[in-house]
Amino acid sequence: PRSIWLSRHGESEYNLTGKIGGDSNISERGEAYARALPSLLRKSGVPPNTKIVIWTSTLKRTIQTARHLKAETGFEKLEWKALDELDSGVCDGLTYEEIADKYPEDFKARDDDKYNYRYRGGESYRDVVIRLEPIIMELERSENVIIVTHQAVLRCIYSYFLNVPQEKSPWMEVPLHTLIKLTPRAYGTEEKRFKADI
Ligand code: F6P
Repeated sequence: PRSIWLSRHGESEYNLTGKIGGDSNISERGEAYARALPSLLRKSGVPPNTKIVIWTSTLKRTIQTARHLKAETGFEKLEWKALDELDSGVCDGLTYEEIADKYPEDFKARDDDKYNYRYRGGESYRDVVIRLEPIIMELERSENVIIVTHQAVLRCIYSYFLNVPQEKSPWMEVPLHTLIKLTPRAYGTEEKRFKADI
């Protein structure tokens, strides 16, 4: 049966400094993950002659993370704007400390209702779930796909396939440098995680 692989981008310059959003490059460690991704995918179990399509967002960190995977496998690659990270509006480029300092009411409002909280000039998790609808529809009709995207977006996609209520998606564990393989089975979705050794 077909599988869906999910991965965050490799560690980015912003991840290193604790800033959210942006369009930074991947760090040296992030590049090590990008180089490890083709073998991590093989290790996860890919039947011979399986074609996998690579989906990324339009942001540099996901494209850089998929670069070696694309080069080594020759798989087709698509970039989707709908896979870009949750838009944090006026808070884009700030650390959580800076947000708490500059926008204390917003920081509290997000803490109180993380799923519905919409950044000023940006998005909420609920907004992301809605903009992902076409992506989910396309995924349902696709065979094997590996998606390299961002934390908030992956939490929503993951919740959808694991049948977790979308309101709980903001708290799903989707760590860096970990490939998640989801395979739909008769009894539900089978999940396996492969952590890169970097
Ligand atoms: O810090 C990485 C990041 O992807 C940010 O760009 C994004 O705003 C955040 O994670 C989403 O996580 P949370 O919803 O927990 O703030």
